[in-house]
Amino acid sequence: MSVKYTYIGHGTHSLEVEGKKVLIDPFFTDNPSTEVSADSVEADFIVVSHGHGDHVADLIPIAKRTGAQVISNFEIVNWVQAQGIENAHPQHLGGGFNHDFGHLKLTIAHHGSGLPDGAYGGNPAGLLFTVAGKRIYLACDTALFLDMKLYGPVDLFVVPIGDNFTMGPDDALEAVKLVNPKAVVPCHYNTWPLIEQDAEAWAKRVEAETEAKVHVLSSGGSLDV
Ligand code: NI
Ligand code: MN
Repeated sequence: MSVKYTYIGHGTHSLEVEGKKVLIDPFFTDNPSTEVSADSVEADFIVVSHGHGDHVADLIPIAKRTGAQVISNFEIVNWVQAQGIENAHPQHLGGGFNHDFGHLKLTIAHHGSGLPDGAYGGNPAGLLFTVAGKRIYLACDTALFLDMKLYGPVDLFVVPIGDNFTMGPDDALEAVKLVNPKAVVPCHYNTWPLIEQDAEAWAKRVEAETEAKVHVLSSGGSLDV
């Protein structure tokens, strides 16, 4: 049983496991990295790592239209429920739960989590999935931190390389060394001039210095894990 990972663009991703669609950090409408319309997205679950606009912009309309269950930290789940979405599951950092699609644990991430309307979004998270026997770690928006070592080894590591708001290429390379993944997908770059990076050059560095295979995916590109 494999898991299909799809890079939608920037910090937006999806996983497909046993017919269930898990959408991560829905940002479509103002996302220069994807042409997918928020109106056409399907989801059974929507996982949200933190409250920033480039991760929750289309969350409420997609959750309302699809009826997908929203999974996030306690504070973001409260914010979502206050907007009329009842199907939501709160977790928090260090906590795991066996969902219908598999296990999800919220990990540490060093970043912010304020919501677009100024509401408090709790602490930001990384996402560690154990689905269909595969470990998939999305660092999400974060700085490099040594405890990442505790989350590896993994089958797939999705890591930001954009710099400025998150890790840049040098720290992301260190992160790969800590996490020890089989496969790596870079994300959160080239969306705006502020986070322009050469992902192919970064991939060559990672493959020269680690055992990991890097997949530079364009929007809509996917990978069987
Ligand atoms: Ni952010
Ligand atoms: Mn972001």
